[in-house]
Amino acid sequence: MNIVEVRHPLVRHKIGLLRDASLNTKDFRELVTELGTLLAYEATRDLATESATRQGWAGPVEVDRIAGAKITLVPILRAGLGMLPGVLALIPSARVSVVGLQRDEATLQPIAYYERLTGRLTERDALILDPMLATGGTLIATIDMLKRAGARRIRGIFLVAAPEGLAALQAAHPDVEVFTAAIDERLNEDGYILPGLGDAGDRIFGTR
Ligand code: URA
Repeated sequence: MNIVEVRHPLVRHKIGLLRDASLNTKDFRELVTELGTLLAYEATRDLATESATRQGWAGPVEVDRIAGAKITLVPILRAGLGMLPGVLALIPSARVSVVGLQRDEATLQPIAYYERLTGRLTERDALILDPMLATGGTLIATIDMLKRAGARRIRGIFLVAAPEGLAALQAAHPDVEVFTAAIDERLNEDGYILPGLGDAGDRIFGTR
């Protein structure tokens, strides 16, 4: 599995700021947006381009343009929404497929309570947005859903990933590409990442 821990100084600086438990909601949200942009930049580094001719001020000029790659962004409710504005700043015409999953209390398996995928997924790449890759259960279920719908290449961007979640993803979907700002130490007994950020959804939405 291709796992990229983005070590750009701006990314390391901003993730360091997010670790501060005293950060207010506004600043946390802004940093999540900015990191969404920076991670999306890395995750789209190898998009195919093609040549085109533009009428420049001094005559025709050969330029590069993105070669018709169609992307759907896939924010996982609720915390994935925090990264969406930052990614849309870079890919403003991307379609957005929103998914929400919760754990079935009987089976402990994630089940979808909301699934609104964009049309013609077979013609699109998917870029999943979720701040925290913890156990990987929600992510794996989301990828199952996207593959069933025919999505082509699947990538995900995360602020923080746990080794346990990366291992589970490797076992279930080794073809998926992961871009994360940090790989942390481990999960605690409640499934929170250490040192992590705490509950990313609560911190983005101010519901602590
Ligand atoms: N979800 C979070 O918001 N934080 C974690 O540490 C793990 C899952």
